[in-house]
Amino acid sequence: MLDINKIRADFPILSQKVNGKPLVYFDNGATSQKPQVVIDAISKYYQEINANIHRGVHTLSQLATDAYEISRGKIQNHINAKFSHEVLFTSGTTHGINLVTNGFASILKEGDEVLVSALEHHSNIVPWQMLCEKTGAVLRVIPMNHEGELIMEEFDKLLSSKTKIVTVNHISNALGTVNPIKYMIDKAHEVGAAILIDGAQAVPHLKPDVQELDCDFYVFSGHKICGPTGTGILYGKEAWLNKLPPYQGGGEMIKEVSFEKTTYAELPHKFEAGTPNVAGGIVLGTAIDYMNEVGFDNIQQQEKELLEYGTKRLLEIEGLKIFGTAKEKTSVISFNIEGIHPYDIGTIVDKLGIAVRTGHHCAQPIMTFFDIPGTIRASFAFYNTKEEIDIMVAAIKRAQMMLS
Ligand SMILES: Cc1ncc(COP(=O)(O)O)c(C=O)c1O
Repeated sequence: MLDINKIRADFPILSQKVNGKPLVYFDNGATSQKPQVVIDAISKYYQEINANIHRGVHTLSQLATDAYEISRGKIQNHINAKFSHEVLFTSGTTHGINLVTNGFASILKEGDEVLVSALEHHSNIVPWQMLCEKTGAVLRVIPMNHEGELIMEEFDKLLSSKTKIVTVNHISNALGTVNPIKYMIDKAHEVGAAILIDGAQAVPHLKPDVQELDCDFYVFSGHKICGPTGTGILYGKEAWLNKLPPYQGGGEMIKEVSFEKTTYAELPHKFEAGTPNVAGGIVLGTAIDYMNEVGFDNIQQQEKELLEYGTKRLLEIEGLKIFGTAKEKTSVISFNIEGIHPYDIGTIVDKLGIAVRTGHHCAQPIMTFFDIPGTIRASFAFYNTKEEIDIMVAAIKRAQMMLS
């Protein structure tokens, strides 16, 4: 069991007041808060070992290189990748997806098909659309039902020998649906297609095992798991990473350069051109250590209780409708209140110290499906409490009274 007071004391921002009220932070889907160990690790890096990596023979450069590679190893262990060179540092999920779509531009041909799910964040739609425009491949959409679940019978029908890659999130940021990715991975492989899993919303809640899943690519962002912004990971199977061309050209990603021809470095450096976010990469390892110390069983238990309690309490509000009622769901509650624009609720509760997200959550097709402009989204983390949910519910009731 979590000692919630001890956990909350790890996050200095949680004891802050916003607009004169104690902060209730329910925008964890957008980004997580950072524990003191992560904040300290950033300043320790700049105070003690700041240097460029993989380049210098001097001591600081070696210390920084070692710390960066140790962090890569921690992430390898965390997601159970077979090799550390299958773990690429990126600036986030968006970067990871674009790296893959850029690579597939040299693989796809006219008439090939890319399957994308109806539940995606824009960053897992637009790069694939751009890829299809470039190559003449066709984008097909795996539809969803009114609970916010992907329809597996339709997915099965869409798969064919034309399918070259499938892309789907592990967990939806807008609705919280946990997708049946193991089934989808196996089915994609049956027709010879690759599959990318957008794990941006999954890694805060669970530990993915990429070998057991057998996915070809798994991407996520560091800032959603207590790590710094501008960090992320693209896991790719070795064979795929060897097959894809480099994403960016520059320093570090080369073996030899001449004006006639350049040869590329081995993995992972082939995909890590230029000076990376050294501090960020190192501290992402610290964040993952922290999450593991809290323990994913504890995290899941706490978040399950928050989801159940939050759903029950919110449904007490008259005229409130929840979007996303999938059987498999994590700690996101997206909702609207009849006759009130989500933005107005968001603005009023902010004045009461409560941070929720309002709008389309970078998932406009989902809003179009439900025929709504957007929702109010409360997304929980393991450091949230039931008392905070009570504060939010009271604030929403107050906002509802003011607005109706
Ligand atoms: C499911 C999902 N995919 C992709 C992203 C994009 O992540 P980033 O902005 O960190 O690149 C997000 C961010 O909210 C997300 O929730």
